[in-house]
Amino acid sequence: MDAKLFAALNDQINEETYSAYLYLSMSTWFEANHMSGFAGWMKVQAGEEAKHAEKVIENLQARGHQPVLKAVAAPPNQWKSALDAFEAALAHEKHISACYQRLVDQAYELRDHASVAFLSWFVTEQVEEEKSTDEMVQKLRLAGESIGARMYLDGHARKRA
Ligand code: FEO
Repeated sequence: MDAKLFAALNDQINEETYSAYLYLSMSTWFEANHMSGFAGWMKVQAGEEAKHAEKVIENLQARGHQPVLKAVAAPPNQWKSALDAFEAALAHEKHISACYQRLVDQAYELRDHASVAFLSWFVTEQVEEEKSTDEMVQKLRLAGESIGARMYLDGHARKRA
């Protein structure tokens, strides 16, 4: 594999691990603020992100490389509201989608079709990730200041676990 593409894919391990860390942090904030349904939703999401990091690691190994794990930044730990947290999650997912977009472009330029095929799974997955996070954002916007509606959504989010 091209050295620059290896470096970019290696960096993606960090992006996915940070995603897991960010959502775990959101989960602890929700739990501390008595919204255990949203906390559970974020914990499930964190688990999925950790699996995404593993997927990138395993692909690099299959291509004969040793992945190099780097320091993971500390995520934020306070948000203004459930809506604020989910909006931050959606912005983060858009950032991750852009990362995969760039990786696919890079793999195409190099005519590395194995990497293009590998990355296509993530391109599809990101559509789903943005959709599920945006659904929460839209519902929380509709709930507005209604405690009852927000509690209903918290209970609904619990079902994801
Ligand atoms: Fe694995 Fe939500 O990006």
